[in-house]
Amino acid sequence: MTTQQPATRPANPRFSSGPCAKPPTWTPEVLASAPLGRSHRAAIGKARLKAAIEGTRELLGIPDDYRIGIVPASDTGAVEMALWSLLGARGVEMLAWESFGKGWVTDVVKQLKLEDVRVREAEYGALPDLDAVDFSRDVVFTWNGTTSGVRVPDGDWIAADRAGLTICDATSAAFAQDLPWDKLDVTTFSWQKVLGGEAAHGMLILSPRAVARLESYTPPWPLPKIFRLTKAGKLIEGIFQGATINTPSMLAVEDYLFALDFARSVGGLSGMIARADANAQVLYDFTATRDWIANLAIDPATRSNTSVCLKFTDPRITDGAAFAKAIAKRLDEADVAYDIGAYRDAPAGLRIWCGGTVETSDVEALLPWLDWAFEAEIAS
Ligand SMILES: Cc1ncc(COP(=O)(O)O)c(C=O)c1O
Repeated sequence: MTTQQPATRPANPRFSSGPCAKPPTWTPEVLASAPLGRSHRAAIGKARLKAAIEGTRELLGIPDDYRIGIVPASDTGAVEMALWSLLGARGVEMLAWESFGKGWVTDVVKQLKLEDVRVREAEYGALPDLDAVDFSRDVVFTWNGTTSGVRVPDGDWIAADRAGLTICDATSAAFAQDLPWDKLDVTTFSWQKVLGGEAAHGMLILSPRAVARLESYTPPWPLPKIFRLTKAGKLIEGIFQGATINTPSMLAVEDYLFALDFARSVGGLSGMIARADANAQVLYDFTATRDWIANLAIDPATRSNTSVCLKFTDPRITDGAAFAKAIAKRLDEADVAYDIGAYRDAPAGLRIWCGGTVETSDVEALLPWLDWAFEAEIAS
């Protein structure tokens, strides 16, 4: 095998799993019409925020009776608002198979200190036993585990007649994977992921059952203003019509509106899913024809089509972490692929983002470079 560099590079080397590549048609000029230096409560600001909410509903096919709110602090803010506002009314099942899911376990066990918590964890690459989940309790889980590249295959394991609520962190799944709204009571995501937007705000999507819980249950702990979704026992409806809790970034909102337009231009949700599927397939096919690299996800039905996580399997590698780091560094320095080292808490390897803002031709152009970096690193 030659270790000569391939002749062509991906046109866009941005394969980070967050913030993710901006839409290929994005330029700073698309933000020129943002209503900056104006109150977000002026008619123009309110209209932009409402368009962001209704565009999300239209593209993701969210039912009319679900509330969609723009909240502070990106996906983390949206998830923690839900945990702090809703949990404690009944027992909780916490599902975790990578670092973000584990972070929500820490929130619930160590910070909220809930007593009736059942933690169902799995190692990186696997899922916990979904059929064992008790839906008479509240269930908190991540749809796509960004740091292990393992996703739930579908929503069939979620009980339709559940008594508890499902709280789903879907940040690296929304706009790339089908989300069954009838099975999800709380869903969150950030603009910075599949749409390549900015990270400032989180999206909080509530089913009517989640709203009923908010209006019938008051948690025993204090809630800061930034988390408060109700007033005098009633949902603050304004939050779900664009009257945000505090001041939003209208620049980030404008950027999100552009990203929604990009999603429309490629065929909406199904177009975005098809783009992610095509990108990920390029990597699945690559690993299938190499004996030195494999998908971290054990079951192909659970392989992510966004955060594709790969591990090196060559027996000549003695220090897996150093090897993977060196590969990522070579590709970064060659301006071929930025930020593709595995997440800091995950097993050593690569994580290559395949969401719909990435062009398939760029994933294809990356492949000879993966061969090159592997051979060069083995040789060194
Ligand atoms: C599954 C998951 N949850 C939560 C987060 C945190 O997102 P944010 O930094 O947008 O709050 C991430 C970020 O990568 C993630 O992948």
